[in-house]
Amino acid sequence: MEEVVVLIVGAGPAGLATAACLNQLSIPYVILEREDCSASLWRNRAYDRLKLHLAKEFCELPYMSYPVDAPTYIPKTQFVKYLDDYVEHFNIQPKYHTAVESSAYEKDEKCWSIVARDVTKCTSISYMAKFLVVASGENSAANIPMIPGLEDFPGVAIHSSSYKSGTQYSGKNVLVVGCGNSGMEIAYDLASHGANTSIVIRSPIHVMTKELIRLGMTLAQYLPLKVVDSLLVMMANFIFGDLLRHGITSPKMGPLVLKSETGRSAVIDVGTAGLIKKGVIKVLGGITKITGKTIEFEGGSESSFDAIVFSTGYKSTANNWLKDGESMLNSDGLPTKEFPNHWKGGNGLYCAGLARRGLAGIAMDARNIANDIKSTIDSIFN
Ligand SMILES: Cc1cc2nc3c(=O)[nH]c(=O)nc-3n(C[C@H](O)[C@H](O)[C@H](O)COP(=O)(O)OP(=O)(O)OC[C@H]3O[C@@H](n4cnc5c(N)ncnc54)[C@H](O)[C@@H]3O)c2cc1C
Ligand SMILES: *[C@@H]1O[C@H](CO)[C@@H](O)[C@H](O)[C@H]1NC(C)=O
Repeated sequence: MEEVVVLIVGAGPAGLATAACLNQLSIPYVILEREDCSASLWRNRAYDRLKLHLAKEFCELPYMSYPVDAPTYIPKTQFVKYLDDYVEHFNIQPKYHTAVESSAYEKDEKCWSIVARDVTKCTSISYMAKFLVVASGENSAANIPMIPGLEDFPGVAIHSSSYKSGTQYSGKNVLVVGCGNSGMEIAYDLASHGANTSIVIRSPIHVMTKELIRLGMTLAQYLPLKVVDSLLVMMANFIFGDLLRHGITSPKMGPLVLKSETGRSAVIDVGTAGLIKKGVIKVLGGITKITGKTIEFEGGSESSFDAIVFSTGYKSTANNWLKDGESMLNSDGLPTKEFPNHWKGGNGLYCAGLARRGLAGIAMDARNIANDIKSTIDSIFN
């Protein structure tokens, strides 16, 4: 058994940022990662054409800026390079192939006991940690809805995290389910590779340009969110025109208020809206059932499809391995307390990157956690 001061679960951006902040304060830590690399979501579970949706000034991790000549919207490969530089600069050495399987608070020892499995050697490793940081991500497992008949669908049915590009779908009838940023961009990618593309849009969404969101985020530093939101909605209406006619409704709350209150992001259009308006991408309602290749939609219409891409989001899996986490996480494995108090539980338990606030939120969590651990340690020794 190994005794450590801080144990971090997950070497994605949140785990790495926390490690860097601890390193700055000279607090020793161990960081465990189930896969064979850091930032596996970005390396292995993201489509080719992905760029950061937000401008680079809103996507920095603590203590390291992007190179001055970096584009405003960083492409996936360049973001991975930034993370590699980050790992090297702060000398972060994640223990790879090490999946945390359980952890519980030991009242008598006032410590977290953690059991991890070395997935290559199939051995177990035990740790005792004073502080435990959950950085396993909001995107830990793919979420695919239960649909009657899906298990017998004879075509390809994948989650967006397995989608790379539209090359293999040319000439096929493809259905994208879900209208977040991934779904809308994958639909665009499919259509531009010559797939006959349809998208299921059930929930209301704000469609914005990336420049509008950048403007909004900048103005929000000086003006109330509501004021900025009405400006954004007005400009988006001017740019995109009436999307309601094409089956897209917008939420009652404005885009920035919606993000701050519910964590739901506006869709940053990459050209999908234009293709929807031209009728190249067809908008469909919710799926009611699947029979063979035939998919039936609300209202009774049906069509035949060769492939389905589920862009239906992810689940946190922290509750699968974390016991005694009730002080911090709800039954969905997401923070119970509201922002900005979400990152701290009881008994030295913390979470980074679970507040649906992207990389800027991750940077804040990492700083807060490291500072809090520092002051706890200081108060013990002073
Ligand atoms: C397609 C996509 C695009 C996004 N674009 C942006 C953007 O432009 N701007 C922005 O700010 N945010 C964006 N986000 C949101 C967010 O910033 C990223 O998801 C980011 O990668 C989250 O970092 P994380 O470290 O919290 O989680 P992850 O990157 O998911 O990292 C968690 C790590 O923990 C590991 N892990 C999980 N469970 C265990 C376990 N039991 N034991 C050991 N290791 C474990 C995982 O393997 C993973 O490597 C995007 C998200 C997605 C999915
Ligand atoms: C393209 O998809 C739509 C919607 O599913 C369908 O109605 C249409 O027949 C398809 N076109 C071709 C050429 O298959």
